[in-house]
Amino acid sequence: MTLFKAYIKGTGSFFPAKKLTNKDLEKLVDTNDQWIKERTGISSRSIAADNETTSDLAYQASLQAIKSANIKKTDIDFIILATATPDYPMPNTACLVQHKLGIQNCPALDMSAACSGFVYALSVANQFIQTGTYKNILVIGAEVLHNFVNYTDRNTCILFGDGAGATILSRNEQCDDSVNNSINDRGIASHHLGADGSQSDLLEVPAGGSAQVITPEILKNHGHCVVMKGKELFKEAVLSMSQRCTEALEKNNLTNKDIDWVIPHQANTRIINAVAKQLDVPLEKVINEIKNMGNTSAATVPMALDIAVKDGRIKKGHWVLLVAFGSGLTSGSVLLKY
Ligand SMILES: CC(C)(COP(=O)(O)OP(=O)(O)OC[C@H]1O[C@@H](n2cnc3c(N)ncnc32)[C@H](O)[C@@H]1OP(=O)(O)O)[C@@H](O)C(=O)NCCC(=O)NCCS
Repeated sequence: MTLFKAYIKGTGSFFPAKKLTNKDLEKLVDTNDQWIKERTGISSRSIAADNETTSDLAYQASLQAIKSANIKKTDIDFIILATATPDYPMPNTACLVQHKLGIQNCPALDMSAACSGFVYALSVANQFIQTGTYKNILVIGAEVLHNFVNYTDRNTCILFGDGAGATILSRNEQCDDSVNNSINDRGIASHHLGADGSQSDLLEVPAGGSAQVITPEILKNHGHCVVMKGKELFKEAVLSMSQRCTEALEKNNLTNKDIDWVIPHQANTRIINAVAKQLDVPLEKVINEIKNMGNTSAATVPMALDIAVKDGRIKKGHWVLLVAFGSGLTSGSVLLKY
């Protein structure tokens, strides 16, 4: 069976206009700009307006991705949207994006793998392209997290922001599964996914699902908000992201020296730097856009990718290693030739 290659044909991102700076947070909790910058690398985050939903952010990022891929909206065969903060329990947010795009002719699916969601979604989309089922898939990571952040908890409220990133993953018509080193060989080389449900309590939103419905009491006690064991997560993040990267390199007989760019989940600059150290990749080759983004969960990787494509760092033919980690504990990497 011929396996087609799936490559990233277009990218887009969207940051809501409203900003929440470290100085703003100083007024809410006992923290300070210097501590936040030193411990996380974050200076400010975008926060969606009251009337802006996850699908609104996803729609804006998608328009950019469609434009940069130079395809028509009706060329989209499938929409996969990764999020932990859907507009509603149902319908799924991907269907709402489809409607906003004004198209009706494609299936639309949400994926829930927390901060690893986009990497998971890209891996699933890759299968549909490889097998020849679809030609163009809109893959999105989008979040409006601030509604699930407790702005009296200084451990978590300093970290998270809102945003969306989108890609068009397309069939590379120029090549099949025979590997060569030409630029026509653009596409996903492999993906590596993992999860460890036994450690789910390290990062969770306890209420709002079937285990715990939201009551006035729960709302009052912020039970619908993110709770986190930061120190333990930090270690697991470094460990699992390093592992997923090593698996990708080994699978493709590449070394750290072959990689042009690593795009890690933007959770904390110290986590990003520790992963780079484990891989022995210089920081100049690591995309770190957390300063003005914060942790936008499933959106960080496609947002950082879009920024680095638009500013010209990532060029056609570069080896790019995407890697993420999140609640679950999920993790995943995608190695691709951009
Ligand atoms: C949350 C995180 C930034 C905290 O950094 P840390 O270096 O582990 O800090 P600690 O929790 O050890 O706290 C150190 C001190 O700073 C204090 N502190 C915690 N948050 C603070 C804040 N926002 N402002 C000021 N001081 C703070 C602590 O109370 C502690 O004080 P103490 O030494 O007097 O007890 C870090 O653990 C982290 O990023 N973890 C991973 C989180 C993550 O990535 N989550 C999402 C995964 S997808």
